[in-house]
Parts: sequence; C-alpha cells; structure tokens
Amino acid sequence: MSLRIKTFEEYKTEYKKSVNNPERFWAEIADKFSWQKKWDTILNWNFDEPSVEWFGGGKLNITENLLDRHLDENGTKTAFFWEPNDSTGTAKKITYQGLYDEVCQLSNALRKLGVKKGDRVCIYMPMVLESVVAILACARIGAVHSIIFAGFSAQALADRINDATAKVVITSDGLYRGDKQVALKSMVDDALNDCPSIEHCVVLNVTNEKVNMQQGRDVDYHTIIKNEPKHCPPEIMESEDPLFILYTSGSTGKPKGVVHSCAGYMIYSAYSFQNVFQGEENDVFWCTADIGWITGHTYIVYGPLLSGVTSVMFEGIPTYPHPGRFWEVCEKYNVNQFYTAPTAIRSLMGFGLTPVNKFDLSSLKVIGSVGEPINEEAWTWYFENIGKKKCALVDTWWQTETGGIMISGLGNLSPMQPMHAGYPLPGIQPILLDSEGMIITENEVEGYLCMAYPWPSIIRTTYGDHERCKNTYFSNYKGYYFTGDGAKRDKNGMYRIIGRVDDVINVSGHRFGTAEIEDAINMDDFVIESAVVAFPHDIKGQGIYAYVVVDQRGESSDEDITSSIINCVSARIGKIAKPDKIQIVEGLPKTRSGKIMRRILRKIAEGERSNFGDTSTLLDPEVVDKIVRKAL
Ligand code: PRX
Repeated sequence: MSLRIKTFEEYKTEYKKSVNNPERFWAEIADKFSWQKKWDTILNWNFDEPSVEWFGGGKLNITENLLDRHLDENGTKTAFFWEPNDSTGTAKKITYQGLYDEVCQLSNALRKLGVKKGDRVCIYMPMVLESVVAILACARIGAVHSIIFAGFSAQALADRINDATAKVVITSDGLYRGDKQVALKSMVDDALNDCPSIEHCVVLNVTNEKVNMQQGRDVDYHTIIKNEPKHCPPEIMESEDPLFILYTSGSTGKPKGVVHSCAGYMIYSAYSFQNVFQGEENDVFWCTADIGWITGHTYIVYGPLLSGVTSVMFEGIPTYPHPGRFWEVCEKYNVNQFYTAPTAIRSLMGFGLTPVNKFDLSSLKVIGSVGEPINEEAWTWYFENIGKKKCALVDTWWQTETGGIMISGLGNLSPMQPMHAGYPLPGIQPILLDSEGMIITENEVEGYLCMAYPWPSIIRTTYGDHERCKNTYFSNYKGYYFTGDGAKRDKNGMYRIIGRVDDVINVSGHRFGTAEIEDAINMDDFVIESAVVAFPHDIKGQGIYAYVVVDQRGESSDEDITSSIINCVSARIGKIAKPDKIQIVEGLPKTRSGKIMRRILRKIAEGERSNFGDTSTLLDPEVVDKIVRKAL
C-alpha cells in the first residue's frame, strides 16, 4: 500500500487538493486500507464542542491492516530486528507471520482473562518485542491500550491506571536500561495496592528476577499464551471507537489521557510515516523513541507496520555500553531512515567524532529529529557527521494530541533549512494567530500556532473529561485547535517552532507541566510552596528550576532538603522529572492579588540578574533581590 508522494511538485499539488477538498483527499487515501465495512460519511466536525468524526459508519480492525493483509505476500518479511541493551546480548527478529501468531495468542489469552471491547489495558513495559505484541493484542480485541512509560514511578502508574479504570496491566519482571536494572514488577505491586479496577497483571520474564506473583491476580505471559491458537478473530470496531489513551502533561497539574480513534489514527499514522521518511520497499527504519511516548506509538508500532516495512527496535540507550552504540546499530542493520531526538544528538556530540567514525553509516538516506526544537549546532552536527551532508534531515513537529507528524520535510523532496520544521503535510492547515486571536496572513511573522481544520488523527477527547479537552485545545481561540506552541513563518512560508507558550516544560523531549512538578514538590514535608520554571540546558534543551519556600527545617541542611525534594518528585512522577536546580527562597515574588510572577523567576533562571521589566505590581520587591542574591 503505497501512500507516497514522490516529488516536491506532487506535494504542492496534493497539498492544494487536500485543502480544496479535504474529504475527497482523505477518502481516496482511506480507500487503500482494508475495511470490514466502508464509511457512510467522511467527516463531521465542530471545533466548538469539540467533536470530530472521520469515516463515520465505517468498520475495521487496525490489526487486520498491519498484520493480516501482509501475510500472503510478506509473511516471511522481518517486521522487527530487535537489538538488546547490551551489544553482547542476543539479538532477535520477528517476521510479520511471527508477530501475527503471537498477537493472536495473546489476544486469545486476554479474552480468557475477561478483557472485552472497550476495556482499558495498561502496558508498563520495557523496549522488548512483547510490548508490541501487547499493544497489538489489545487492538485486536478492541481493548483500549494505555501505555505508561516505564520510567514513571509507581505512584504515576497508579494515577494513570485509576484515571482510566484499567482492568489489566501488562508488565515485566524488570528491565535493563544502560548499566541499570529496574525492578518493574515490584513498582507495579506498589501501584496496585491502590488500584481497585485491576483484575489481572500479566508478567513477562525479561530479567529473570524473582518476583512476587499474587495468586488469582498475577499470571505469567508465556504460560497464558502457550496453548492458545495462533488465530484470533479480530473485534470489529467502529471508525471512531477509541484505539488508545496516552497520558501527557499540560499546564494544569494532572496529566490527561489523550484519546485517539481507530480509523483516523490508522490512516494518518501510515500516511505521515510513508511521506516523511520516504522509505522504499526493502528499507530498514529505526525510530529510537520509547514505546511509552507518542513517537513510539506512531513510528515504532503503527506507521511502520501498517506500511509493511522492516524496523529496528532497540532496548537500550545511546551511550551504553559505549557512545557509538546508535551508530553501531545503524551499521549492523543497514538502517536507511533514522529518527531520534535532539537531546540524544546533543549528548552524543559531546563525545566527539571518534565513536561515529568507527561505523559505516553509508546506508542512511533520511535522518529525523523530533520532540523539541533542534538548535543550529546540533542540526549541523547531525547533518554533517551522521547524514554526511547527503541525507535529508527532517525536523518533524507534532504532538501527542496530533497523533502524527504535522509539519516537516518529506525525505529529500523538500527544501531544508536548519531549525525549520518546514511545510505542513497535506491535509494539515496551520495558522498563526496574534495576541488578539486574529489570523496573521503575511509571512515573516511570529504567532500562536493553531490548526484551522481537522485531520484524521486529531485528539478526540481527554479520557473521562471532555470539558478539559475543550478548555485546553479549543477554547483559547474559538474555532481553532490550539497547539500550545509559538511559531515563526519565514518569507517562504516555512515554519519554525519556537517552543511552548504555556506552562509546559520540554525536558529532553519529555513534556511536564510546571504545576505537575510543583504539586509533587509541595508534597514534601519541608515545603510550603514552590514555583517551577524552565531554563536553557545544553543537553536537555530545557532544565527544571524549582524555587521552594520551606518550613520547619529544624537541624536539616539545604542538602537534606533538596535531596528530600528530589526523592519526593522521583516517587511522585519519576526520576525523569526531578529538578536540575532547587533554590530555597524566603518567599516567591507575588502580585498584590497573590499571583506568582513567573516571568521574573524565568528571567532569573535564565541568568538575568537585574532587568526584570515592569515590577510595579509586586507586593514585596525585596523578595526578588533576595532570590537574585542566591540564584543558582
Ligand atoms: O513544543 C512542541 C515540542 O513537543 C511538544 C509535543 O510534545 P509531545 O506531545 O510529548 O510529543 C513529542 C513528540 C511528537 C510540542 O508542542 N516539539 C515536538 N516536536 C518538535 C517540537 N518542538 C520543536 N520542533 C519539533 N520538531
């Protein structure tokens, strides 16, 4: 099923078609997929409610499109090469037929455990092939998967399980990440003390560690699939039935469950995958993201499998056991398209070129970047040393909520400009708004990035709280989807993403709400209140700077307090969210109405020491002087 545009001229024509008649444009693409029943209507939408329905009345199962339909011609084709954490470990591979067989076995087993269409299943797993099997088994039987990144803490896992009232959790005994081993099952045990909706926990053996198996609740992955048939009739889903929930952070405290639907997500993940990466039939694709993030969902699992390609799945991290690990894996599997995050590039740049030059990267054709703005130095290093100045570098802008890549180059078809994501994909209608909410039509401008028209994989709701979806994305600018990002459009109409304009911090491509981190910090016994802001970080893009007001410190030193806070954040959210800098302050700068003036705190965190603009509304200007004197 080729959905590929092959020239930039064709892109322009397709783009026009997609704007002039979006329904016809997407229907022609949808027609290339397998349906149990074709749709009655193509699109019904209203951004006020919001409600978006693509291919209403259609019936399908996404796994038929990404497994069954490949079996006749490509059953023996490799779906994944799996590369272990340690280079001395045993690599594996799985064919499309092999994947089909195991997905069916697990689907049958999950059905026996009582999982039905619409039930939520939580997946808290390492980067192993069985994670893909688990995802697809849920999709096969119509269960809604909710993958929780395995770096989140037990508490964060429990919060997400409870929000989705999940029935089953699928996990492993443990996981390997670089030189660390994490006891995943014991974290799940902690979480499940507080998760009444969970009926079963499926445990995969990865690290061979001894785990507690609670009778009646916990079952072993291999034991439950062993005798199951390698066929499983797919659940027939409506186009708009939910396919998955994925939790992401916003400007308010509690992460929200972004809901994606079956048909729209299927169509857009495959379409964007094929067009951005421009892979050819026997190419090998590698996306280094974790399956716990949207990039892993769309470009490790759904996009590549729908397109029938061979991918690499990597268990480990870029620097273990050596800083050439990524390049070693590229050489080993002759990777043609490589997709990673600016953070990884920046951290690898620090090791110089020796680890790069040890490996043959000549198979690479397209290299991609995702998750955060890529600075010029990192762009140039990536382009010159990994892409050897001959590969297309695609800087792909998108979000958990958009389901797939929205603004990006298309392989080597599009013009490239450092730090510019580029042009919108066909079907995507970005606009820039000014602070009054008016559309800016000229070029060489900057504004709030919004979308004027629905695309198939747009967020449908936030799980269990539709009002929140409306307020977060569809209320700031009436009639438009608001991304939360600011962007520039240059004289050629190319977009450059500046970054978040809300209280969201992007640390190494991971999104955290400042309020979410503050809530975690405030749970520490020492803390009365706190304010969290971002500061520029050489490797992570943004770092977390926390200002905290403490109480009753007794004999405790500053070090005791900061380590207590770090432990508290690690337990509440996960180590990935721990502040890089914690400054203990006497008070926070507040206005007379009690609002924290974050603008000032942001400036201090960025290194500014005197020029804070208008501070006339401050209740006590002295507070600022005191913070500046001890700024980190
Ligand atoms: O601020 C943008 C940034 O990441 C945010 C979305 O984060 P998340 O939902 O976790 O998804 C990340 C992976 C798609 C966006 O609002 N972002 C993502 N890609 C880029 C980017 N910023 C600049 N350039 C990008 N290519």
